[in-house]
Amino acid sequence: MSDRMNSSQDIRTIIADRVSRRGFLLGSAGGLTAVAAGGFVGSLFSGQAHAQGVQSSLTFTELTRIYDQTHHVAEGYKAEVVAAWGDAMQAGQAAFDAKTMTAADQAARFGYNADFIAYLPLPRGSQNSDNGLLCVNNEYVSFNVMFDDLADDGEGGAKMTAEQVALCNAAIGHSIVEIKREAGVWSVVQDSPMNRRITLDTPMAISGPVAGHAWMKTTAEPDGMSARGTNYNCGGGMTPWGTVLTCEEGASDTFGGDITKTPFADVLERYGYDGSDYYGRARFEDRFNVEKEPNETNHFDWVVEIDPYDATSTPVKRTALGRMAHEASTVVVNKDGKVVVYMGDDDYFEYVYRFVSDAAYDAANPASGKDILDAGTLSVAQFAADGTVTWLPLVHGNGPLTAENGFADQAEVLLKTRLAADALGATPMDRPEDMETNPVTGRVYAIMTKNKKMTADKLNAVNTRPENFYGHIVEMIPPGGVGVDADHTAASYTWDLFVLAGNPKDPVHGATFHAETSESGWFVCPDNLTFDPKGRMFVATDGANDFDIADGIYGVDTEGPARGLPKLLFASPIGAEATGPCFTPDGTTLFVSVQHPAEDSDMLANASTLWPDFAEGGVPRPAVVAIQRLDGGEVAA
Ligand code: FEO
Ligand code: CA
Ligand code: CA
Repeated sequence: MSDRMNSSQDIRTIIADRVSRRGFLLGSAGGLTAVAAGGFVGSLFSGQAHAQGVQSSLTFTELTRIYDQTHHVAEGYKAEVVAAWGDAMQAGQAAFDAKTMTAADQAARFGYNADFIAYLPLPRGSQNSDNGLLCVNNEYVSFNVMFDDLADDGEGGAKMTAEQVALCNAAIGHSIVEIKREAGVWSVVQDSPMNRRITLDTPMAISGPVAGHAWMKTTAEPDGMSARGTNYNCGGGMTPWGTVLTCEEGASDTFGGDITKTPFADVLERYGYDGSDYYGRARFEDRFNVEKEPNETNHFDWVVEIDPYDATSTPVKRTALGRMAHEASTVVVNKDGKVVVYMGDDDYFEYVYRFVSDAAYDAANPASGKDILDAGTLSVAQFAADGTVTWLPLVHGNGPLTAENGFADQAEVLLKTRLAADALGATPMDRPEDMETNPVTGRVYAIMTKNKKMTADKLNAVNTRPENFYGHIVEMIPPGGVGVDADHTAASYTWDLFVLAGNPKDPVHGATFHAETSESGWFVCPDNLTFDPKGRMFVATDGANDFDIADGIYGVDTEGPARGLPKLLFASPIGAEATGPCFTPDGTTLFVSVQHPAEDSDMLANASTLWPDFAEGGVPRPAVVAIQRLDGGEVAA
C-alpha cells in the first residue's frame, strides 16, 4: 500500500509537469497549433474537456464485449478465415492434418502463429484491392497445443523429437500467399507461383555496416555475408518499392549453452540470452549452441527485407536498422525523399528508434529503393518533460560511442545497439511494440504494450504508471506541418500521451480514454496499430485475457471531438491475441491475425478452444481473418 501511495505522489508530480507543458504546446505558433487545438483534448485530461453526445467518426455499431471460444465482429460485418496454420500453399497438396504433417510438408504450408500482415497488390505498384499478396509473419510455435504429447511445463524443448523440432523450425518465419476476392470472399490462390514459405532454414544475405564483420563469421558462413533463417518474426512494415520488412523480435531463449563462455557475454546478457534452448534446437543443430557457434547469435535480431513478388529472391538482413527485439519497421517517405523507418524494441525499459536513409527515394523509379536501407542514420529517442523528444544519433564517434568505450566502429555500434543507446541516455520505455504514422496528420504513434516491472523510482515523463499492466500510446508530432509536410527527419519532435489504457472505472488503472468510452470500448495492452485511409487508428491488443476480456481490435479517432474514444470492432477467441491489422488500399478489408488460440491451455487435450475448425480431435489453428462490411463498403466509413 505504501508503495502505491508513493507512486501516486510521483504521478501527481508528473501530471503537474504536463499541465504546464500542455499550456506551452497549445500556445505555440505555427501549423502545430492548428492540429493541436482539436488534438490534445482526448489525452490526460479527457474527463474534463467534453460535451456529452460526442460522436465517433467510426460508423459501426460497437460490438458488445464478449469473451468465449470463438471470434466476434460488430453487427453488419463479417470476419472470415483467409489462411490458417497448415493450409496448403501448392497445387496438389492434401488438406491439413495435424496428425500426419511432416516437417518437410510444413515447410510448404502456411506457418504457425500469424502476426504482422502486409497486403501487397497485384500487379506490383497497383492499388488492386481484390487480388494481392498476403505476407504474414509466423512469429513462433505454441507446441503445447500443436502436439498431443507436449505440455506447457518448461520441458517441451528437452522432450521434442528431432522431427517435432524440425517441424517447428519450418512453421515459423514468414508466409506469402496470393489471395483474391470474389463475390466478397477472400481465398488463397493455391497454385500461385508467388506462394512461398520463409523459415528458420531459408538462406539470407547480410547487408549494411555489419556485413562481413568478424562477429558474423560462422562455420557455415565463413565470410559473414550470409545467414540461415529468421526467427521470432513479430512486427514489420511495407516499403513503397514493394517489399516487406519483417522484424526479428529477439532470439534470447532460442539458443542453448552457457553464454558466459562466449566472447561477447556482456552483449548477450544485455540482450537477455538465457541459454534455455526453449525450442530444443541446440540438441540437434550446433549452430544453436552458443558454446559451439557463438557468432550464430549475431545473425538474429535484425530487420529482414523480402521481395514477395519474386519467389526466388534472397531475403536480406538490413543491419543499418540496428539490433534489438525489433517491433515494427514502419516506413515513411519524407517530403525530401529520405526513407524513414520507425522501430520499437519490445522489452522492459527498452527504447524507441528511428532510421533515416542517406539517399532519397525516387517514387518514379521504384528501383531506387533497392539497398536504400543500407546507409543512413539510426537514432534513439530521448523524451523530456518539457514535451520535446530528441533523436540521438547512434553514430560511431558521437559522444561516448568511441573505441575506448567498446565501440570500435559503426558495425560495433549496431551489433551493440542497446548498449550504445544506454550510453547516449535514451529514455527507457514500457515495452515499445508497434509504431505507425497517421497518413492524414503525419503524427507518429508508439505503443507501449505494458510493463509489469515498472516501479515508482523508474517513472519518467512518458512512462507514468508503476506496475503498468495496462499499456499506453505515445503520440509524437514532427515539426514542419500536417500530413506530407511533417518533417520525419527533424532532430526533435514534440510528444503527448494519446491514451493511458485500462478500465476507466477502476481508479487503480489510471486510464485516460475519452470521457464517453463505453463498457465495451476500453482496452488494455495495446500492441499493434494501423490506420485506415481516412486516418482513423485501429488498435490490436495482446494481454487482455489477464483482465478476463478478449483481445481484439478497437477503432479510435485521433482528431476532433471524439479523439481518444475507442470502439470495439472485433474480439478474438480465448487465449488468442489480435495482431497484424492491415487494410487493403481501398479500406474495404481489414486483415487481422488471430495468434496463439488456446495457448493458455497446458496441453492439447485441455485446449480452451479448437478455433477455427472446432473439429473433434482437432487442434486450434492460428489464422488470418478478413473483416469486411456485409455490404462491401469501406470499413467504419
Ligand atoms: Fe511479439 Fe512484442 O510481440
Ligand atoms: Ca506483437
Ligand atoms: Ca506482444
